[in-house]
Amino acid sequence: MSEQLPLSIQDVVAGYVPGMPILRGVSVELRANEIVTVLGPNGAGKSTMIKAIVGLVPIQSGKVFLQGKDITGRKTHLLVREGLAYVPQTGNVFVRLSVQENLELGGFAAEKLPPDRLDQIFTLFPDLARFRKLAAGKLSGGQRQMVAVGRALMAGPQVLMLDEPSAGLSPKMTEILFAKLIEIRSQGIGILMVEQNAKAALAISDRGYVLAEGQQRFAGAASDLLTSPEVGALYLGAHTRLAS
Ligand SMILES: Nc1ncnc2c1ncn2[C@@H]1O[C@H](COP(=O)(O)OP(=O)(O)OP(=O)(O)O)[C@@H](O)[C@H]1O
Ligand SMILES: [Mg+2]
Repeated sequence: MSEQLPLSIQDVVAGYVPGMPILRGVSVELRANEIVTVLGPNGAGKSTMIKAIVGLVPIQSGKVFLQGKDITGRKTHLLVREGLAYVPQTGNVFVRLSVQENLELGGFAAEKLPPDRLDQIFTLFPDLARFRKLAAGKLSGGQRQMVAVGRALMAGPQVLMLDEPSAGLSPKMTEILFAKLIEIRSQGIGILMVEQNAKAALAISDRGYVLAEGQQRFAGAASDLLTSPEVGALYLGAHTRLAS
């Protein structure tokens, strides 16, 4: 089963200190052509899950499969070559480097970099083409997030993981960024993101999971999660409103 899945996390127990797991048996699947969102309040273990997948947090038990291949504990830089790219929650651009230099750095991680890859990124993000010479630190939060996503795409991934891409962005900017994620999915790239912005994230997702205290509370179609009173209740305690 897991052989065909772009990404599969099976019963993962992981944490920063041995014997003190933060993730306590988490299973998440990303199927072909999906955007999947993992929701959860602050401290739920969302970033820890992403970091465990990319080898930045030790996995104590459980498995991670990328296109059916066991990648449990594999180092981040090797995973980029295997087709898994990751946009961290914070510090995801080099502020002193230009937009283009930031993107080119992402290209170094690629095994084979097609000559038109940079142009493809500029086609997807025309703003970045306009500001290509500008230091990334001079951009707005939304534009910086586009640089971070663009850099991850430079490596030509099959799976893109994003840690709270809408953090700090206005609703309008979030809408623009999320429309780009839909475009990226249409290019055959699967997306797994963690978010606190439940409503906006589920609106573009195929399926969702809810994580709390390192365990899965809900899983289902994004539309079901959006209308679930239990999910809403969990979120009202976490400063997130599903219904407007
Ligand atoms: N480097 C670390 N060392 C030890 N514990 C950590 C470390 N980073 C996070 N934790 C702990 O792991 C738990 C989960 O944190 P995590 O960052 O994964 O949550 P999150 O769901 O991403 O939260 P947020 O929405 O605030 O980003 C928290 O209790 C946190 O204190
Ligand atoms: Mg986090």
